[in-house]
Amino acid sequence: ALEAVIFDLDGVLTDTAEFHYEAWLELANELGIPFDKAYNENLKGVDRRTSLELLLQRSDRRYSEAEKERFMQRKNERYRELIRRIRPEHLLPGIGELLEGLKARGIRMAVASASRNAPAILVSLGITGYFDEIVDAGMLERGKPDPEIFLRAAEALGVPPRNCLGIEDASSGVDAIRGANMVAIGIGDPGTLGNAHRVFPSTGMLNLALLSDTYRSAAN
Ligand code: G6P
Ligand code: MG
Repeated sequence: ALEAVIFDLDGVLTDTAEFHYEAWLELANELGIPFDKAYNENLKGVDRRTSLELLLQRSDRRYSEAEKERFMQRKNERYRELIRRIRPEHLLPGIGELLEGLKARGIRMAVASASRNAPAILVSLGITGYFDEIVDAGMLERGKPDPEIFLRAAEALGVPPRNCLGIEDASSGVDAIRGANMVAIGIGDPGTLGNAHRVFPSTGMLNLALLSDTYRSAAN
């Protein structure tokens, strides 16, 4: 039976995927590297260092380790400026009701985000209290699409992976959920998130009945 729901943060609970994009775009523009929304899909869900490497792959210059450190710092500073404006009303549609519904049913909840900024964002959104576990991104050995982050969340919750459902907006994240042998819901474009058991265009469509139904049909 469905015992736990594990949420990605950026692009699922709130629209910070947009802020990550904006901050990387500014860096790319400064460096004269081509960057757009389509290429940004590859960066979604992946950690800061890997995101930078994906960006720099498109440059014909090579950069030193010290330069890379500076770029990551600059991107993160800009990102932190952008997330300062986050308030509870920036929860994506349907998320507040969904968290309430899951809590009322005694379903355990965790956040599995690669972002080191995740705990601060949950505080700004006012939803920290809903989560039994928040995986520490700094403790991970392997990033998404490796299943490690979802397996750690399940372990911390004390729920077997087969009784967990994960929600993701990134292709790397959906692959991580599937790799962990959990049921996967994708939020976004079915073309990008084809590995999910079900894909919905927006979080506004999510509710407890739909999650239970997706779990039941996928787990059989
Ligand atoms: C999430 C986002 C990625 C981001 C990563 C690291 O996975 O989807 O776009 O690169 O977190 O975030 P951070 O806030 O630690 O740079
Ligand atoms: Mg995401």
